[in-house]
Amino acid sequence: MPIQSICCLGAGYVGGPTMAMIAAKCPGIQVTVADLNEQRIAAWNSETLPVYEPGLDAVVASAIGRNLHFTTDIRAAIAAADLIFVSVGTPTKSYGIGAGRAADLRYIEAAARLIAEVSEGNKIIVEKSTIPVKTATAIKSILAANSPNGATFQVLSNPEFLAEGTAIQDLESPDRILIGGEATQEGQAAVEALVSVYENWIPRERILTTNLWSSELSKLVANAFLAQRISSINSISALCEATGADVDEVARAIGMDSRIGSKFLKASVGFGGSCFQKDILNLVYLCDTFNLPHVAEYWRQVVHLNDWQKSRFVEKIVRTLYNTVNGKRIAILGFAFKKDTNDTRESAAIQVCRDLLHERAHLAIYDPRVDATTIQQDLAAAGVDPALIITNVEICSEPYAAVTGAHALATLTEWDEFRSLDLPHIHSLMLKPAFVFDGRAVLCMEDLVAQGFEAFVIGKGA
Ligand code: UDX
Ligand code: UDX
Repeated sequence: MPIQSICCLGAGYVGGPTMAMIAAKCPGIQVTVADLNEQRIAAWNSETLPVYEPGLDAVVASAIGRNLHFTTDIRAAIAAADLIFVSVGTPTKSYGIGAGRAADLRYIEAAARLIAEVSEGNKIIVEKSTIPVKTATAIKSILAANSPNGATFQVLSNPEFLAEGTAIQDLESPDRILIGGEATQEGQAAVEALVSVYENWIPRERILTTNLWSSELSKLVANAFLAQRISSINSISALCEATGADVDEVARAIGMDSRIGSKFLKASVGFGGSCFQKDILNLVYLCDTFNLPHVAEYWRQVVHLNDWQKSRFVEKIVRTLYNTVNGKRIAILGFAFKKDTNDTRESAAIQVCRDLLHERAHLAIYDPRVDATTIQQDLAAAGVDPALIITNVEICSEPYAAVTGAHALATLTEWDEFRSLDLPHIHSLMLKPAFVFDGRAVLCMEDLVAQGFEAFVIGKGA
């Protein structure tokens, strides 16, 4: 039977844009995104979407009300669907066994129990959330044990590889779609049903089908490899600074080797985002669980190096500013974890700002997309005393206000608009010597020096 009705549990950064694209590309399929969070659903149904993503507004507008719906009526959405994507959060567990490393699967389990309770007939359940390998077994057992109406289920794994900021491009033309299913006849029929949804706009040769465990594991491994490249180039950025080499030149030189490739070699103050650290820690936990301590240790280092990169950036600022930033105004440009998103989860800016505040700096923070409340909440959640946030953090609505009267300026997100800042004007607004710490290499070292700044750019030797 072709799929006629899809529901997605979780209207977040993954569920919302992915379902919007499916609805836009498959006008014959009804797509309903359900979430517990009323505010979030209201925002999806409004002019101001809860997720900022270039091109997303147009995709949503093309399908909403026609075959794309956002609702808090989760039960009705499940009951009506042939195929259910599970895209609820899987944060790192903060308590008990595996705290700080294992994925917290309580939302996945709750979703499975609700699906079992509400469903009738045959349904396909698709793991969209990133989950530990073997989670499908748990979902299957919960579904089988809790179906009062005798419903039957096939469980598939279909991880999402979109990156924030380029979600629409990634959804429209993905490198690959990965679908894992069971080798049984019913399992393969379910795989084919999902393949036929994607085939509405993605060439068949880019849709890869595997067994369940390969699919679940591939998502963790893809993120671990991507993060590992960043930690690798960031480790070299420190060596470049020490030796007079330029990390961008090194990245270009090695990236032209087709075996290495040129992408994901941009040195930075550290990777952030909701996935990389969480997924690596999850991989590490899995390795430990399967008694593979050497493998666990290998991947753990990717996260250690990332933490070190953030703390050495702060140390560079404090040491350069004559070993004290107490009472000094520091302009922070960029708070999102990367450009073109309003997402701040695990942003390097959080740790950098926290540590500067612990040194008693005054921060003047500007980000074109992140609102003041989010910044204040993130800092409080990172352990900054709320009183210190009130006295020492100012949120600015434009970059020139932030740098006015500042001892130093630090760029922490690679927003395009930072590349065309009026450097002479900034220099005139700052205290002298005017220090710049560019954690994203968005500013040109030669220009900075020519304008009279004392400049540090990540990965650039003096
Ligand atoms: C999340 C996971 O973090 C990621 O691992 C997975 O790959 C996809 O889902 P994201 O969409 O970025 O990624 O998370 P988030 O924006 O937090 O969205 C999850 C949504 O699920 C939230 O809107 C939350 O309200 C909702 N949710 C959570 C439910 O509807 N029901 C629940 O029981 C729990
Ligand atoms: C990542 C994966 O790319 C995506 O496939 C997966 O589905 C979710 O996790 P995302 O976290 O949205 O996507 O963004 P990504 O572009 O991968 O960037 C992650 C972090 O790495 C950002 O903080 C970014 O600034 C940083 N980064 C990326 C670098 O520091 N250097 C690079 O060369 C690339």
